[in-house]
Amino acid sequence: MFTKTTSKFFFFTLLLISFTENYIYASTNIAVILHGGPDLQKEGTTNESAVKGAREACTPPTCNLELTNPKDETEAEYKNLLPKVASNNDFFLTQGYFAQKATHEVADKYPGKKFGIVNFEFTPPVKNIASILFAEDQQGFVAGLLAAEISKKRNKKVAVIGGVNIPPVKRKVNGFANGVKHACADCTAYCLYSKSFVNENNESHDIFNAISTNKGIDVVYNAASITGTIALKNLTANGIYGIGDTTDEWITNWAYGSVPGSENLLTSIVQDYQVVVRDTISGMLKNNFATGGLVKHGLKLNSEDSAIKFADCHEACEINTPNLKENMQKYIGKIANRQIDVGIDHKSGKSKISPGGTSCTMLEINKSYSSKDGVENRRRSDPS
Ligand SMILES: *[C@@H]1O[C@H](CO)[C@@H](O)[C@H](O)[C@H]1NC(C)=O
Ligand SMILES: *[C@@H]1O[C@H](CO)[C@@H](O)[C@H](O)[C@H]1NC(C)=O
Ligand SMILES: *[C@@H]1O[C@H](CO)[C@@H](O)[C@H](O)[C@H]1NC(C)=O
Ligand SMILES: *[C@@H]1O[C@H](CO)[C@@H](O)[C@H](O)[C@H]1NC(C)=O
Repeated sequence: MFTKTTSKFFFFTLLLISFTENYIYASTNIAVILHGGPDLQKEGTTNESAVKGAREACTPPTCNLELTNPKDETEAEYKNLLPKVASNNDFFLTQGYFAQKATHEVADKYPGKKFGIVNFEFTPPVKNIASILFAEDQQGFVAGLLAAEISKKRNKKVAVIGGVNIPPVKRKVNGFANGVKHACADCTAYCLYSKSFVNENNESHDIFNAISTNKGIDVVYNAASITGTIALKNLTANGIYGIGDTTDEWITNWAYGSVPGSENLLTSIVQDYQVVVRDTISGMLKNNFATGGLVKHGLKLNSEDSAIKFADCHEACEINTPNLKENMQKYIGKIANRQIDVGIDHKSGKSKISPGGTSCTMLEINKSYSSKDGVENRRRSDPS
């Protein structure tokens, strides 16, 4: 009798110990695959903020973090890298278009593991991958609100440089135009789409001409990545106000105000990777992370938790005033609690609230200009 109880008790204690040990020491391995390319040590990049978010959410001993970057931002580099980190990790977070094929392949190979990809949407969805997006429509909409608030006391003309004409870019461009009309019904929102995100054939030059030769446009928003930044650098250097995108471009691309035109960069609409990576990893660790569909991160009233936010006004605070900032904060509150609908259909990227699917007035790009003046302008064009 005595021995039986003792052995039962002993067995129970063992169970308890092993359970406790597991509970305390079992740890989750998370791999975050950041972008590749030359900018990794630069301050203010999405790489820097993604790393911060990952380290905030994944802390030892319960969570082990493996951070890696492909050598370059190419599909081949991701295909080379991802299988190497896959076997040791439970969860994976990758980013962007160039990672998508490799992510899909590795996810198929490990159907029991969970994956997330930021800034890319799988259509149709993949069972063990979450597509994680910033709400591009809201991003464009707040840029449009700010541009219109500034332009409505001036020429009532603003513009957006769109990247390649695909749904995520359409969401931004048509979101911008809807934002413009919301803040200033009789303002014109000029829009254009580029042929590439990386300024192939120096198309930024034609874009610069299309905007600068057009009847007094006051404010221009960059929704075209590198192509847009190069065009916007020249536009701001020529006295037109600019709104940057994705990172605080005053820091990353106007190099802390050392690039001409920096005084005309009003702010940027930042995609806060710190918030999105932190929230995604926290969700993974709490087993509160659904794959097989879309997760959208949008505006929140509290700027700390908001995946989309305005950067500082830096040298342009006399134009982008504290008053305007307060105004924008009110708009953000209304968008966050759905009092204002930005009016974009997710799948098509078209506007649901304007006839023909857009509030844009399209800008023509005049090609003959760059071929005629090509040599002259090549010599003068921006080296970045
Ligand atoms: C970019 O990411 C890598 C991790 O892969 C990190 O070591 C590096 O410090 C990051 N760069 C910055 C500027 O934070
Ligand atoms: C674009 O401009 C650069 C100089 O900034 C020049 O070297 C290059 O040849 C140009 N490319 C094309 C396709 O015109
Ligand atoms: C930059 O602006 C100047 C006008 O100040 C213009 O002559 C030049 O062609 C522009 N360069 C590019 C690359 O757009
Ligand atoms: C296009 O540019 C050329 C050369 O500068 C100019 O002669 C022509 O009028 C422009 N066309 C349009 C439609 O703006």
